[in-house]
Amino acid sequence: MLTTPARLGTTNPISSLPGSAGLVGVLPTAEECHAAARALARRLDAKLIECPPARGLYLACSPEALWLRLRTAGRELAVRAQLSGGQQAYRADRASARGEAIARACGLARHGSRQVVDATAGLGRDAYILAQLGARVTLIERSPVVFALLEDACERAARRAPTLSSLARMRLIAGDAAAWLRTCTRKERPQVVYLDPMYPRQIKRAAPRKEMQVLQVLLGVVDTADTLLQVAQQTATERVVVKRPRHAEPLAGERPDYQIVGRSTRFDVYRGAAE
Ligand SMILES: C[S@@+](CC[C@H](N)C(=O)[O-])C[C@H]1O[C@@H](n2cnc3c(N)ncnc32)[C@H](O)[C@@H]1O
Repeated sequence: MLTTPARLGTTNPISSLPGSAGLVGVLPTAEECHAAARALARRLDAKLIECPPARGLYLACSPEALWLRLRTAGRELAVRAQLSGGQQAYRADRASARGEAIARACGLARHGSRQVVDATAGLGRDAYILAQLGARVTLIERSPVVFALLEDACERAARRAPTLSSLARMRLIAGDAAAWLRTCTRKERPQVVYLDPMYPRQIKRAAPRKEMQVLQVLLGVVDTADTLLQVAQQTATERVVVKRPRHAEPLAGERPDYQIVGRSTRFDVYRGAAE
């Protein structure tokens, strides 16, 4: 049973999560990646494969990253998690508590630091920005495949000195956030619960970004966000923040106490249960 290294604070074994439905297998792309690919395949209850499948989703273990790849007729889309590199680097380098709408919504601009549970951690980009701006963030991800990508990004970021202080404020938990929030102790109750559920398919008129296309194939778009909102409101001592497409209905049809509206997204803020 593998868990994330202790420094990142994972508490749940990933093998306790549901299987990795839809994944064709795990492919090592270089000799030195064989052991890691084999271990990951075992942990995800997936096949170790020797070449890319003709079609479908597979994980590729390469020396530079763990990739989730989607092969369709004639093309391949690939996604990795990157906390501070690639496109995320531009955002992370310029992030400030006043400039980032997510930080204002979570109260960082006002209070400096907050205890945040990111209950839909995904590829960890939002959580990393929050941690970089001083929040202590518990990231919960229920998809074992997405969790593996996230964990890979954290392990790689941990090798780079500039990201260490932000990483020290992050801990990863593999599992269902609603279940975790329901059972968290009084001491564990976070000030803020942050939710970024998968966007409903019909809201996006343009084709979703390639990363979302791959994640939608893996995860589908139906999720339990309405339940999550309810549990989050009962657990957060201060507020619940929900990221939505700018023109989407509020989650569960519930009007927020206030909104922070950006160009394409908005953050709906709900007051949480007082301590
Ligand atoms: C849109 S993505 C989040 C992206 C993330 N904010 C980021 O910055 O990369 C939504 C993620 O929430 C996860 N998720 C949905 N419901 C969950 C639940 N109840 N518990 C834990 N994770 C959940 C999905 O598996 C998916 O990876």
